[in-house]
Amino acid sequence: MKSSFSILFTILLLVVVLPPWCPTSASGGGQWQLLQKNIGIVAMHMQLLHTDTVVIYDRTDFGLSNLSLPGGRCRNDPNEKVVKIDCTAHSIEYDVPSNTFRALFVQTDVWCSSASVAPDGTLVQTGGFNDGERVVRTFSPCSTCDWKEISNSLVVRRWYSTNHKLPDGRQIIVGGRSAMNYEFYPKTDANAKNAYSLPFLVQTRDPKEENNLYPFVFLNVDGTLFIFANNRAILLDYTKNVIVKTFPNIPGNDPRTYPSTGSAVLLPLRKKNRHSLLSEAEVLICGGTPRGAYTQAQKGKFLASLNTCARIKITDPNPSWVMEKMPGGKGRLMNDMILLPNGNVLIINGASSGSAGWEFGRDPILAPYVYNPDKEPGSRFDILKATNTPRMYHSTAILLRDGRVLVAGSNPHEKYNFSNVLFPTELSMEAFSPPYLETVFDNVRPTILGPKSGKSISYGQKVKVLVDVAGGELNRSLLRVTVLAPPLSTHSFSMNQRMLVLEPSNVTNVNGRPTTFEIEITTPGSPVLAPPGFYLLFVVHHNVPSEGIWIQIL
Ligand SMILES: *[C@@H]1O[C@H](CO)[C@@H](O)[C@H](O)[C@H]1NC(C)=O
Ligand SMILES: *[C@@H]1O[C@H](CO)[C@@H](O)[C@H](O)[C@H]1NC(C)=O
Ligand SMILES: *[C@@H]1O[C@H](CO)[C@@H](O)[C@H](O)[C@H]1NC(C)=O
Ligand SMILES: *[C@@H]1O[C@H](CO)[C@@H](O)[C@H](O)[C@H]1NC(C)=O
Repeated sequence: MKSSFSILFTILLLVVVLPPWCPTSASGGGQWQLLQKNIGIVAMHMQLLHTDTVVIYDRTDFGLSNLSLPGGRCRNDPNEKVVKIDCTAHSIEYDVPSNTFRALFVQTDVWCSSASVAPDGTLVQTGGFNDGERVVRTFSPCSTCDWKEISNSLVVRRWYSTNHKLPDGRQIIVGGRSAMNYEFYPKTDANAKNAYSLPFLVQTRDPKEENNLYPFVFLNVDGTLFIFANNRAILLDYTKNVIVKTFPNIPGNDPRTYPSTGSAVLLPLRKKNRHSLLSEAEVLICGGTPRGAYTQAQKGKFLASLNTCARIKITDPNPSWVMEKMPGGKGRLMNDMILLPNGNVLIINGASSGSAGWEFGRDPILAPYVYNPDKEPGSRFDILKATNTPRMYHSTAILLRDGRVLVAGSNPHEKYNFSNVLFPTELSMEAFSPPYLETVFDNVRPTILGPKSGKSISYGQKVKVLVDVAGGELNRSLLRVTVLAPPLSTHSFSMNQRMLVLEPSNVTNVNGRPTTFEIEITTPGSPVLAPPGFYLLFVVHHNVPSEGIWIQIL
């Protein structure tokens, strides 16, 4: 009785006291929903496509998965390490609206690989392990489509590499185990057939632990590439193979990339003011481990992870890292960092001690954090509602079009192992609904009425977005439009994650419809700001986002 009264009282307090324009300030806010108890595979890699389906893949060399290939099909691969004749699936396509999934058929090992989505919406996956290390695989979404494999497509093997989409629509593939270089895909000319040496990856490679794998790569607003490995970063002019800037080391010098595995985002790109050019970019890196954590974990000692985030304006002539502390009194590693439609950063999944790698994570962190980059330092973080399911090594998280976050995976074992282990292999799939989805914000929530999802738009074009705001009380100064490139999530890094904030230039009431408004925006001016392809477009009002629509910027 007492507890139900206090719950009621808390709800009343939240409703009365919480100002509706700060949805993320509710500590413990948000909701978890179990979507699937068993998708049959570990969600080691996840990518949302413009069909509102998610392609998920694991690896082929750990034995049988929990999902049979349909139609009695089997893979008969003499080069496979574990099971030569395998009738189970190691990839699925999950359909978000119907909450159903179907098995896909990968022919070679996609373990610890990387990918980008091509301008036409085809997922282009690169590399993996063993028989898959130089293979490129493509998946063009349709209800019966499956993976296509193109052998010997990469110059060197790509295992633990990072990809990024380029302004010309190709992708660059950076680094990986024993790959201190980069290459491009597709190979459009004779020069593109080369791998280009990148000594920075040699310099950042710790002889014992590596710590330079799955580097954090972002396309800067001037067309250079920001590449972070271990404890430091450069700007690379990949067209000339010239390093144009070397950033200072992160204070403390501790490693942040695999297996120390913190995470990173390029913060939402926006103009300084309505008339300026988009000329600034900031990177935020959170979590990781103290140096030596992997080696210590091998000896059974699980070091507390880093509780710091480091933020830097990469377009500054003299940039420096600004340090901030994560909340909760603990460090975090194997944390995913996801851009939410309102420009906040969700920090989700992971652990607070140990290292990435088989059996090395300890003390899972179950509560997501949200970081508001626009608030004052010291008040940027909130702790949200915890899940019951630890998600550590080989777990993933991605934003969906409806504003929920899909969370799946976790397998710290070399095989699927469900018993007599600290953290069993996790085949379930959950959705986290951030606080902005709560019904208390329905009075400010915008609904996009047009254009139709899937519209193709060119660069620097004026576009009218029609929205309905149910409450009718539109505050124009709290209205903005965001466009987001949905990333590939693996090993706690979201490749190609990129958001642009587009300020409305003209907002007008639609005649005779008091709650309907026409918002005029201008699409990004060049493919350097937004490489060609599919983006999610959201209208945000009072920090509460609409459902997204897909646009294709070409
Ligand atoms: C999946 O796991 C369930 C429960 O452990 C088991 O009954 C089923 O046979 C498994 N299916 C496959 C295809 O491995
Ligand atoms: C799971 O791991 C435990 C502990 O290492 C081991 O005893 C057991 O054999 C493993 N089970 C499978 C199916 O590999
Ligand atoms: C709109 O929002 C701004 C910024 O929070 C605030 O200063 C202003 O008073 C609001 N206007 C209305 C009409 O509520
Ligand atoms: C704003 O949009 C309205 C309706 O489309 C139009 O009549 C008006 O001329 C526009 N104003 C500007 C400054 O573009």
